[in-house]
Amino acid sequence: MSDADATRDAGSRDFGSEVHGEPDRWARGSYGFETLAIHAGQDPDPTTGAVVVPIYQTSTYVQSEVGQHRGYEYSRSGNPTRTALETCLAALEGGRTGLAFASGLAAEDCLLRTVARPGAHVVVPDDAYGGTYRLFAQVLKRWGVEHTPVRLGDLDAVRAALRPETVLVWCETPTNPLLGVADIAGLAELAHGTGARLVVDNTFASPYLQRPIELGADVVVHSTTKYLGGHSDVVGGALVAADAGLGEELAYHQNAMGGVPGAFDSWLVLRGAKTLGVRMDRHCSNAQRVVELLQRSPAVAQVLYPGLPEHPGHEVAAKQMRDFGGMVSLRLAGGEQAALELCRRTRVFTLGESLGGVESLIEHPGRMTHASVAGSQLEVPADLVRLSVGIETADDLLDDLEQALA
Ligand SMILES: Cc1ncc(COP(=O)(O)O)c(C=O)c1O
Repeated sequence: MSDADATRDAGSRDFGSEVHGEPDRWARGSYGFETLAIHAGQDPDPTTGAVVVPIYQTSTYVQSEVGQHRGYEYSRSGNPTRTALETCLAALEGGRTGLAFASGLAAEDCLLRTVARPGAHVVVPDDAYGGTYRLFAQVLKRWGVEHTPVRLGDLDAVRAALRPETVLVWCETPTNPLLGVADIAGLAELAHGTGARLVVDNTFASPYLQRPIELGADVVVHSTTKYLGGHSDVVGGALVAADAGLGEELAYHQNAMGGVPGAFDSWLVLRGAKTLGVRMDRHCSNAQRVVELLQRSPAVAQVLYPGLPEHPGHEVAAKQMRDFGGMVSLRLAGGEQAALELCRRTRVFTLGESLGGVESLIEHPGRMTHASVAGSQLEVPADLVRLSVGIETADDLLDDLEQALA
């Protein structure tokens, strides 16, 4: 056991984004989103004056006497670069505690093993990132955690699925890959009515477009690999807890389970977060242009985008999101072969998994990101193509799709 483990096991209550010194001064003030993204947790380095948070590439820290240190003992338990990121994430989501992880799934696993015990039950979306569903169906089920997939847009169906042993309602909105929308405030009310917590995977919207904690969510999950990192150069995850008590429990498990990011990965996500607002604005406006083009194409049977007035979740999305995001899915009139052909033909949209980076990506969820849910209730249509619309020149994106669909 490291010294840091010993401190925590002895009952230290100093965890998370408030661990290392005063609660962040930026988070206490009334600053706008972009100001927090650039400054929260990121005061100039007290030792050198460096304006950018340094990459503290160290595993351990000097102690002047046994047990006397400057707030850091061992980098699994805490690292100053990671603290800066965690503080910034908590400020951006409006939560009390931010915690960074080595991947989105490591964050999800930490959350689930913190709040669920054998015999617990979780309501999960009937459309979600395939890896999230796999965690429930293939991993946690073996440890006695039950789950029920439900269409979260249907609050009556959610109410019917809740049980006395339900500990979480797990929400993803907009969903990956069908862009379904769930009413976060409505779900929070239902979950809290039975003593369960509401978790929102906010990866697709990012905190710039949607702030689930303000709508009643207890925890926000991110794959920071996506819009927060924003440049397809890092894999990471995050949890932000609305209240300090749950934040402490999660921080305890983050350290006890150990799925933390290194200093450089933390730094990359922090650098990405600084430009989240301006990037998201461009992702959204480019996506809108792409949607208009797709709607005109006879090759496209259906466009799935919450910004469309005919989308069943449009009204809720308009209420709880600042804009409708950069993810667009479409179904091809020519079926699976046409979908695969479209993925083959684009030149600016790169064929690849993941999303949320500055470059536009195209993929076939059925055979790629969601292959693991084939045969389950979450299986996706074979004629579906998902676009992550990047921030390139919009006309180039439109020309590319036009030639690929021709
Ligand atoms: C919505 C969503 N949540 C969670 C994850 C998992 O994140 P990671 O791949 O960083 O583990 C993903 C990954 O694609 C995702 O799209």
